[in-house]
Amino acid sequence: MSYIVLARKWRPQKFTDITGQEHVVRTIENAIKLGRVAHAYLFCGPRGVGKTSAARLLAKALNCEKGPTADPCGACQPCTEIAAGTSVDVAEIDGASNNGVENVRELRENAKYLPQRDRHRIYIIDEVHMLSGAAFNALLKTLEEPPGHVKFIFATTEPHKLPDTILSRCQRHNFRRIPVSQMLARLKEICAAEQLEISDRSFSLLIRQSEGGMRDALSLLDQILSACGKAPSDEAVAEALGAVDRTVVQSFTEALVRRDAKSLLAQVEQAFDRGLELRRLAEEIAYQLRHVFVAHALGEAPSELAESERQAVAALAKQADPSQLARLFDVVHGAVWEVSRAAQPRLALEMALLKAVQLAPAASIPDLVARVERLASGLGGAPGGRSSQPSFRA
Ligand SMILES: Nc1ncnc2c1ncn2[C@@H]1O[C@H](COP(=O)(O)OP(=O)(O)O)[C@@H](O)[C@H]1O
Ligand SMILES: [Mg+2]
Ligand SMILES: [Zn+2]
Repeated sequence: MSYIVLARKWRPQKFTDITGQEHVVRTIENAIKLGRVAHAYLFCGPRGVGKTSAARLLAKALNCEKGPTADPCGACQPCTEIAAGTSVDVAEIDGASNNGVENVRELRENAKYLPQRDRHRIYIIDEVHMLSGAAFNALLKTLEEPPGHVKFIFATTEPHKLPDTILSRCQRHNFRRIPVSQMLARLKEICAAEQLEISDRSFSLLIRQSEGGMRDALSLLDQILSACGKAPSDEAVAEALGAVDRTVVQSFTEALVRRDAKSLLAQVEQAFDRGLELRRLAEEIAYQLRHVFVAHALGEAPSELAESERQAVAALAKQADPSQLARLFDVVHGAVWEVSRAAQPRLALEMALLKAVQLAPAASIPDLVARVERLASGLGGAPGGRSSQPSFRA
């Protein structure tokens, strides 16, 4: 049997399988139950967050032999054919390659006829923003007064490219990036069913890279499995993802906060010798500084991190003060770009890290003000001395 990629194998087959889009799912389920399904829907959102899956489910809900129902059976001919993309009454059209006016004219002609077998003729047009201006115009009239048996479901990652005339004729739903906790729950469910053992730390890395897209998360999981088998170690996962080991990132960040130039240089050398991608490393350090900053501001580490990492981040947040963190972040964040275009990435990274520790303010502003006041009142102060107790920390 050939291997089916996880993203395909785990396409949501019920509305409850669609993770993180409850606001959309609820509205659509209600519309189906109340018999108030709109004639044109527009699903917007980033790639891989469930737009096509939801469109197919809506098509099943409408055409299931046991329907219309918010809980399509998944077993009847319409349901199985829609899942396979072979239904005679449900057309899935790629807007990017069928974007001409003649394509829409053909669609318009077909839409006039009654469905061949099922309740509705359903047109799912993906990447609908790719249609030409003339194609949109040709679509308008049908969209305004479609025959009763016709439903349109449009999907797009770029809704701002759609003409207002189209937007105003559709019921729009915004799909969002999938929140970390829900993504984690879904991935764990899939890994349990597939008998894969992945640590929370590795999940956390994978989820961060997926940027809220479930398809990307599942593709990364495929990548890990093919590289390292069913129970990969954290190091193997990091390597498969081309990512930098978390402990390396953490120790860079600690050295930055400690202003330990010597350790930073040694660590850059090690990273370089190990062949780590330095741009990526800089990016990870910038993220870590962000986490420390957030931990400082909120009094607790960001919840999207794995537990062991949360502790390390929280500990670091206690040692640093906000103006120092802000400065470190600015310099390292700028370094990501510098390192990526430098002829000598190692040199660029070294200089950026050194700048970060040398230039980060030695103390918070209120601290400096206090010192100046002490000087002015003749009490003096330790010149150049670094206060480790910024005065305005809560
Ligand atoms: N919200 C989600 N819940 C569960 N799985 C999802 C979700 N979004 C995407 N997926 C996974 O990613 C795959 C591709 O999703 P798809 O619906 O085609 O995304 P889009 O059309 O938004 O690019 C699905 O087959 C499924 O495995
Ligand atoms: Mg899609
Ligand atoms: Zn069915």
